[in-house]
Amino acid sequence: MEIIVAQNSGFCFGVKEAIDTTMDVLNKCKDEEICSLGPLIHNNQAIERLKDLGLDVIDNVSDVKSGKVIIRSHGVPLDVYKTAEDNKIELIDCTCPFVRKIQKKAKDCHDKGSDVVIIGDPNHPEVIGINGWCENKAYIVNSKEDVENIPKLDSVCVVAQTTLTNEKFTELSELVKDKVTNTEICNTICNATKVRQNSCKEVAKKADAMIIIGGYHSSNTQKLVEISKEYCKNVYPVETVDELPLDILKDYKVVGITAGASTPTWIIEEVIDKMEELLKDDMASIQKGDIVKGEVISVGEDVSVNINYKADGIISKEELSNESDIKPKDIVSEGDKIDVLVLDLNDGEGNVVLSKKRVDNEKTLKDLETAFENGEVVSVKVDGVVKGGVTVNIKGLRGFIPASQVSNSFITDLNTLIGETLDAKIIEFDKVKNNIVLSRKQVESKELESDREKVWSKIQKDQKVLGQVKRLTNFGAFIDIGGLDGLAHISDISWSRVNDPSEVLSVGQEIEVLILNIDQDKNRISLGLKQLTPHPWEKAADNYSTGSIVEGKVVRILNFGAFVELEPGIDGLVHISQISDDHISDPSEKLEVGESVKVKVLSITPEDKKLELSIKEADPTKIEEIEKYSSKNNDDEAFTLGDMLKAKNEKIEI
Ligand code: F3S
Repeated sequence: MEIIVAQNSGFCFGVKEAIDTTMDVLNKCKDEEICSLGPLIHNNQAIERLKDLGLDVIDNVSDVKSGKVIIRSHGVPLDVYKTAEDNKIELIDCTCPFVRKIQKKAKDCHDKGSDVVIIGDPNHPEVIGINGWCENKAYIVNSKEDVENIPKLDSVCVVAQTTLTNEKFTELSELVKDKVTNTEICNTICNATKVRQNSCKEVAKKADAMIIIGGYHSSNTQKLVEISKEYCKNVYPVETVDELPLDILKDYKVVGITAGASTPTWIIEEVIDKMEELLKDDMASIQKGDIVKGEVISVGEDVSVNINYKADGIISKEELSNESDIKPKDIVSEGDKIDVLVLDLNDGEGNVVLSKKRVDNEKTLKDLETAFENGEVVSVKVDGVVKGGVTVNIKGLRGFIPASQVSNSFITDLNTLIGETLDAKIIEFDKVKNNIVLSRKQVESKELESDREKVWSKIQKDQKVLGQVKRLTNFGAFIDIGGLDGLAHISDISWSRVNDPSEVLSVGQEIEVLILNIDQDKNRISLGLKQLTPHPWEKAADNYSTGSIVEGKVVRILNFGAFVELEPGIDGLVHISQISDDHISDPSEKLEVGESVKVKVLSITPEDKKLELSIKEADPTKIEEIEKYSSKNNDDEAFTLGDMLKAKNEKIEI
């Protein structure tokens, strides 16, 4: 535990003067009746002590018949002086000079015809006193609503209760200014108050808990409580040492202490002493194996740490971090607050032996255990290749990814991963053996699965999509359409006959495909390429007419004839009798697959996708003969070769 005492706390100048003067009077005038008009300060313990020394407290100066009356630092209304004079009572005036200045300012303004506005607590004796210096005609405001209730005024002087916060004074005085034609703003907040409040704020910012010592009725103490609460979650106001919640306070690392302007020094000292005892207990309790807080004092080859113990602690380079090739100054700096493990209470030279890396490792192991239990993804850096996989660094600890878990895709050389940062999932975790096995493949699969789900939700039948050929088989091509593979069956690749998909496609090729069918349950997507263009038969009648002679390619040979393709998707039969004038028993005697041939269209029936062709009638010599014969017979009709042969009575053997 660390204790920070606010630099400016306890008695302010005005209160100290009042107390010192009172003590002096009590000592010097032991035979006289000495009393104060109201409690001298807002601190019960101090008041009790003064009572023991003979100081009485009265409420009204007219109640006093003899002796001396002490006016406290808050001051009193002007008429009190008159009453005392009339009753021949001696006043010992301990009004703080700063308060007196405000009283005079209020009187001066009032005498000149200006109104006076006092920002402060209307029940506070100081405010009541100031009001009494302007015939109790001041407007006292303590909130925005109070300002709203002020009537329209021509000229005012604004003063403040000495213990007000600056923020409140600025806010309310600005509101007053908006309402009044001529406003004189006098910030009469006492500097002692400002200094105490600023000091308190600075300590509260650093502390885990704040102790505010002072009377529960002390305005300035309550202000310190409010300020502390703004910057610190745990604020404990106490009047005396006996109220310290020691059981709670012992668990805080940094405890701040401040005190109100009316808190006697002896009460503050008692509190500080008690807290220091707690600190000593805390220090004495350090043992081997404890994890304690420390502050780095110096960084060299080793690191020195203040652990609030009678001796400082030392962290060797080896105990600083798992990284062996890193300098201590790259890990910690002077002033750093760190958690350390006590390895030994004495290294032989009186230093406590500490380890930072073991605490860090323990924390990391806990984090990784949680990550393992929750299936969280962790970030790792590949630092080596070993037999069967790669080693990785996870927050300073060592892990292992088996080769089979490195990736979804095949990686030929694991060395290419060294230095890479990867996302991975812990699949085996043994805290005792410090054994951490991870899988990057699972993370990739999950990502892939998520991508796939997105694609499934987007695609639909008859949709055109872009894809990339992933794999070719003898029955079709597998095409990746953005995370999902679909199959373009060999019969859906082209309108022409395809014997092997590789005739048309190659792996890696990017193509547009049409989604023919989707079956998510069976994980199947059917794709088509040929469906992206109209069926060739739709235009066949326009392109091919009976009697026309066209070029084709023999695509299949059967025993009764050969199929000749005129264009992809359109082929027709050349009957064996239409292959040659020669007698042939097998079409392959004259033709071979792949051969280009001229054919004559004997008939075309697009609705049945049927085309009858003839090779022999497309023979140029026969055509010549036909043309000659036609011109001789002066006949315009188109003749078939059969017609011509019949006409010449030539015999054809089939
Ligand atoms: Fe006087 Fe300031 Fe203290 S006004 S009584 S010195 S807080």
